[in-house]
Amino acid sequence: MIQNVSFRGNIYFCIGFFQALGMQFKNFFFESVDSTNVWLSNLAQSGNDIDGLVVVAGYQTKGRGINTNSWHSDPGKNLLFSIGYRPKSISPSEQFIISKAVSLALVDVLKFYVLPEDLHIKWPNDIYVRNNKIAGILISSTVSGNKLESSIIGIGINVNQTVFPGWIKNPTSVFRETFRIFDCQMILNEFLDAFSNRFDTLNDRNKFDQLHKAYFSLLYRRGEWAAYMILGEKKRAKIKGLSEYGQLILVQENGEKVTCDLKEIVFLEQ
Ligand code: BTN
Repeated sequence: MIQNVSFRGNIYFCIGFFQALGMQFKNFFFESVDSTNVWLSNLAQSGNDIDGLVVVAGYQTKGRGINTNSWHSDPGKNLLFSIGYRPKSISPSEQFIISKAVSLALVDVLKFYVLPEDLHIKWPNDIYVRNNKIAGILISSTVSGNKLESSIIGIGINVNQTVFPGWIKNPTSVFRETFRIFDCQMILNEFLDAFSNRFDTLNDRNKFDQLHKAYFSLLYRRGEWAAYMILGEKKRAKIKGLSEYGQLILVQENGEKVTCDLKEIVFLEQ
């Protein structure tokens, strides 16, 4: 039962049901909302169960990106949505496994549209086509004791946008890659299927390793010497692995290993 919701956007069409494999989703569509992540978070904070809710927006007035970045999308051009997810048995220290599963689900879908060999996951969870970003993921989770209580998984996929503002570093879109317009709703349904599939493995700890291997094999710049800003210093380094908490492990030219959190590393152009 959804209650105490303050609707800042106009609900355009409310509630559809989508069943994908083992998961059931309840979809909300807003023509315009501040941010689908914020909307779901407000709903959770007012005591609602957000598990399986999918909030889709045609436009976000305050779309959020990773760190303090904003997420830009022209109205009606792209797929912008958030999913509420209640993990069954993931501890806070294991939460990066969710990023891995979501990134892989996105690759599973985008493979239908762009050459699979061009698709990579830029750590921690940007989806790249060659050197350009086609999709981004923003996950926020709440913890209760030693349990991950709920996660809000926000996803932006650039679908039909052709021109992006200059401040966006290296954007691409499905249109830019294929020169074809696609139906965002269709891509959403494909994603929910892929998400259901990948999230099935999250219920079985024995399958975490399989998920990790698939994620690592798709990492952008894996095993390549490249330029980075690491803790404020420009360095050449090679991605070697991931820590158990999902930090990026690189080896530098002097042979030293360095383990980085998101805020400690910037990928530079060569
Ligand atoms: C990033 O790469 O910086 C993450 C981008 C995440 C954007 C999506 S769009 C739908 C959802 N609502 C938001 O405000 N952000 C996420």
